[in-house]
Amino acid sequence: MSHSQGIEREFGVPFPGAPVDASKWTQTALKAMPEGHLSWHELFGRDAPVVLDLGCGNGRYLIGSALARPTHDHLGTDILPVVIRYARKRGNQRGLPNLKFAVLGGRELLEVHTPPHTVSEIHCYHPQPYYDPAKVHLRLITPHFLALVHRALVPGGLFVIQTDNPGYWKYIRDVVPVFFEFRELPSRWPDSPKGRTRREIIATQKKLPVFRAECVAKPDVTEADAVALAEALPPPTFDADRRLRELDRLG
Ligand SMILES: C[S@@+](CC[C@H](N)C(=O)[O-])C[C@H]1O[C@@H](n2cnc3c(N)ncnc32)[C@H](O)[C@@H]1O
Repeated sequence: MSHSQGIEREFGVPFPGAPVDASKWTQTALKAMPEGHLSWHELFGRDAPVVLDLGCGNGRYLIGSALARPTHDHLGTDILPVVIRYARKRGNQRGLPNLKFAVLGGRELLEVHTPPHTVSEIHCYHPQPYYDPAKVHLRLITPHFLALVHRALVPGGLFVIQTDNPGYWKYIRDVVPVFFEFRELPSRWPDSPKGRTRREIIATQKKLPVFRAECVAKPDVTEADAVALAEALPPPTFDADRRLRELDRLG
């Protein structure tokens, strides 16, 4: 991250927003998770559409969305404390009351802490492909995870999924349409042509293909159907292609 004339940039691309006067900073840290469901009303102090970013990294997408959509409440989680520290710092400094970040696995958030049918959007940008065969079981996008995404969303809710890993994408294209109407996007995000996230910026600058889809939960799939479907579908045991690992050093 470079600073020139007060503008923060990542790989040359301006980071959304700018620090406000310290008297207007907010507290975006969500540290104490309840044992069971979160109350969105208690967390944000109002009732508004909820947007989640699972594996949010440094929070770039969510901070931009919280700035652009003050009408929506946003929660980002990641298992890496260091990236959440960066996300919180920038979120606080931008004075955003509609944004929280937690150190937490995406699956745990949905399985344990998300009341069913309460979330408007779930975003998942560049989930870790895990190249090491011993870590394949850590891949986030599994049939069970997709059943949890489907359960968390309100009717008509949106699931955004994106990767630069061709093996992961092939798997996603096979399993996601079982639960969701799957609309693959032909080109870059109009709101962020250089990339919505840090990883997308890096992949775009390296001229790697980036695969994106916007998906809507199928209304005729019940919770019981989703669980049964999840059990029948294959796990994500694709070959992630170790040659692509180099990119992980950067982002
Ligand atoms: C390749 S990075 C992408 C980060 C960000 N979404 C972006 O596009 O720049 C993958 C992120 O997923 C996080 N991650 C891995 N497994 C996770 C899980 N089970 N739940 C939440 N985050 C996870 C990693 O810590 C890492 O920050």
